[in-house]
Amino acid sequence: MSESSAIRLMAIAGARPNFMKIAPLLAEFAGRPRFEVFLVHTGQHYDELMSDGFFRDLGIRAPDANLAVGSGTHAEMTADVLRGMEPLLSAHRPDALIVVGDVNSTLAASLAAVKLDIRVAHIEAGLRSSDRGMPEEINRILTDAMSEWLFVTEPSGRENLLREGIPAEKIHFVGNVMIDTLEANLARARQMDTLERLGLAPGGYVALTLHRPSNVDDPEHLARLFAVFEEIHRDLPVVFPVHPRTRAVIEQQLRGKTPEIRIIEPLGYLDFLRLMADARLVLTDSGGVQEETTVLGVPCLTMRENTERPVTVTEGTNQIVGRDPVRIREGARRILSGSAPEGRIPELWDGAAAKRIVDVLERDLG
Ligand code: UD1
Ligand code: UDP
Repeated sequence: MSESSAIRLMAIAGARPNFMKIAPLLAEFAGRPRFEVFLVHTGQHYDELMSDGFFRDLGIRAPDANLAVGSGTHAEMTADVLRGMEPLLSAHRPDALIVVGDVNSTLAASLAAVKLDIRVAHIEAGLRSSDRGMPEEINRILTDAMSEWLFVTEPSGRENLLREGIPAEKIHFVGNVMIDTLEANLARARQMDTLERLGLAPGGYVALTLHRPSNVDDPEHLARLFAVFEEIHRDLPVVFPVHPRTRAVIEQQLRGKTPEIRIIEPLGYLDFLRLMADARLVLTDSGGVQEETTVLGVPCLTMRENTERPVTVTEGTNQIVGRDPVRIREGARRILSGSAPEGRIPELWDGAAAKRIVDVLERDLG
């Protein structure tokens, strides 16, 4: 291939849920010789268990640059990514910037690019919780407003973007890259000894994740949730890989007092997939976990007042149970006593989303 026909991209990953979204895209680009991809890790997440472990589990190559922004306030993180991205983008002048999801790194990298007249492709565009109190909702709206290609995972994404005045020709319904990664790794995950290591039996436990500011930043609310988890744990073991944000609140505001449930470190991708796949119930406030449980056919109770992923409720196994401890306990009881939604796999969540995305980019940038 002559150099003039190369398609030069820059791709961004910064936080845990970005890694499983960027992995299938990088694999697809790598299989097409015209693409040259410069990979940037912003360093928003940096613990071994929140970052490097995923690169190994998912076979992602080492980043070409790491901005090492670390933790901070929203303004600090956003500003540090902007400052870090500008010289990289100016030096490389990629044909497009690839961003995934809705974290601060997604927004900041996109803003740096559009200001330099570099076009942005947003993967997982159009999701809306209609809750502007959620930091991710601001990131979603602003990233979508700046993007040239908007790749949506579900029909609601398209409707939301059209309502916001995004031209139809920029919107592409391609499916879900996070599910590409699940499909590619489920067989390996099923071979993991996760349950043996944790002393759990298939179908004999509840898996729990919790990290949204609306649930964990107020220690009194968090303590009330912990009391419910302890109640559920008396019926069936509750296994809780604790996110570092939540860990920090426990240590700094609850004087280190953890609930009487099974507390463990954040799990790697394959271990966590195995844990979800064999759970009787998943309790979560994660975005991605709502989607993964739908594909696995495992009942999921989402401890939030809304979801930006409505197809997981209308078609999948997800139920929005809210943040009220009483409703959470009742929801869990209902499912543990055998009444769980059946669910089906949403349209185009078939493991081929990255291929569809790269087809569009190759056509438009070729
Ligand atoms: C971020 C995303 C959120 C996403 C979540 C996935 C934003 C606004 N939020 O939330 O959308 O669902 O990641 O996990 O971008 N920390 C560590 N080690 C790490 C990373 C974080 O100790 O490797 C701790 C620090 O105390 C930090 C806190 O976690 O202050 C929060 O990290 P931050 O990246 O600000 O937000 P998350 O809650 O992780
Ligand atoms: N996940 C993981 N280990 C854990 C908890 C979650 O590998 O201990 C995975 C999960 O399967 C999904 C992703 O992390 O692929 C979701 O990330 P997170 O919940 O942090 O972010 P959100 O999706 O809420 O933005």
